[in-house]
Amino acid sequence: MTELDEIVQSFMRPPYPYDPYPLYAQLRDAAPLYRAGDGFWYASSYEAATAVFRSPHFGQGSGPDSRIRRDPRFDDSSALQTLAYMLPFIDPPDHTRLRQLISRAFTPRAVERMRMFLAGHVDALLDSMAANGGGDVMSELADHIPVAVICEMLGAPGDRHRDLVGWADALVAAVHPTVSDEHLAHADDGASAFRAYVDTLIEQRRREPRDDLLTALVQAEADGDSLDGLELTSTVCVFIGAGIENTKHYIGACIAWLLRDREQLERLQHDPSLQASAFEEVLRLEPPVQVAVPRLVLEDTELLGSTLRKGEHVCPLVGAANRDPRAYAEPDVFDVSRVGPPNLSLASGAHYCTGAGLARLEASVTAGRFLERFPNARLVKDPPVRDDIRPSLRGYASLTVDLGDS
Ligand code: HEM
Repeated sequence: MTELDEIVQSFMRPPYPYDPYPLYAQLRDAAPLYRAGDGFWYASSYEAATAVFRSPHFGQGSGPDSRIRRDPRFDDSSALQTLAYMLPFIDPPDHTRLRQLISRAFTPRAVERMRMFLAGHVDALLDSMAANGGGDVMSELADHIPVAVICEMLGAPGDRHRDLVGWADALVAAVHPTVSDEHLAHADDGASAFRAYVDTLIEQRRREPRDDLLTALVQAEADGDSLDGLELTSTVCVFIGAGIENTKHYIGACIAWLLRDREQLERLQHDPSLQASAFEEVLRLEPPVQVAVPRLVLEDTELLGSTLRKGEHVCPLVGAANRDPRAYAEPDVFDVSRVGPPNLSLASGAHYCTGAGLARLEASVTAGRFLERFPNARLVKDPPVRDDIRPSLRGYASLTVDLGDS
């Protein structure tokens, strides 16, 4: 095994380091596009990762050759069959068609309508934290927000939050091509329960339309076209699956980074107009999605002096690309007023995160209100990072704070 393979292994396989960023930097400096011993290409520079996100030569493939469908377990796997109809796993032109239909329902106006709901929900949670003088931001605040918001938006009853999170978590495990049989079986159970539940909601909306996102999706039409049954179910599942975990980690990271750095927090307190750039800076430094969905190389492609062969896999390493010194001056420094190119935390190109506006709204209202209300809050200890979602995702297991005399 080469030295670079050892570096890749050390952040892709357990035991994971608390801080993977110095390892990413070593790989990026030595080989911004590297074919590792595990057979995957890793795009770790800003230029390489952007090219992988944006080039039509990398995707999921189509028909029976698509990355998800060519898994030999596809015919028996409810999880893989659900994934096959989700936006991240479809290439243009099918992807373009599906995304256009979804954008008829998931509009900026529908997102903005969540602001008041969010503020009320956040304030109630902050009241309980205040009554206790502190607590765990993850379990007492961040965990509750994204699931409540997406359910409110869809019009899904609040009593199944825990089930939805569990099913979505199970399903996410099937995304990686090397998923074990055991994890896939667990994902299949989650996907079957998820689909049965979502199908019931969809049937209700067909019978009794309401003023919610689910009804808008059922009714979405463009050029006489609409979403078919599996597309609808998979779309609702992807909103829940993609929208909850990442956003909760983003909220936690915004609070942690500002509480850890009093100087930057004071800059924000003196000039609240910096809030959007401050939270964007956290998104750059601590991306909830560290390793994006693997892409298939659809045809032999030259990139940064290497030839990627048709059929190979390539992964954009978002956590590495966002700290590339060729894109950002002093990339490891937290600067709430940083100006720079767009970070890659919400991807780039055709698969740019559909929920970007909602994620930013949730972070701005939740972390924004927390920091305003508790200006003297302090971190009690360095927050532990969850290992069970690595290497693809990154988020805190807990974030214990003392609210001081706030
Ligand atoms: C901070 C929170 C979030 C982060 C970091 C995030 C990150 C991402 C990334 C990196 C991708 C591209 C995946 C790839 O192609 O490799 C993506 C796609 C997507 N995200 Fe998000 N996301 C967040 C929140 C949300 C929310 C709140 C929703 C919806 C409710 C959402 C829905 C989606 C969907 C549907 C896609 C697929 C888009 C496509 O393939 O065309 N995400 N997200």
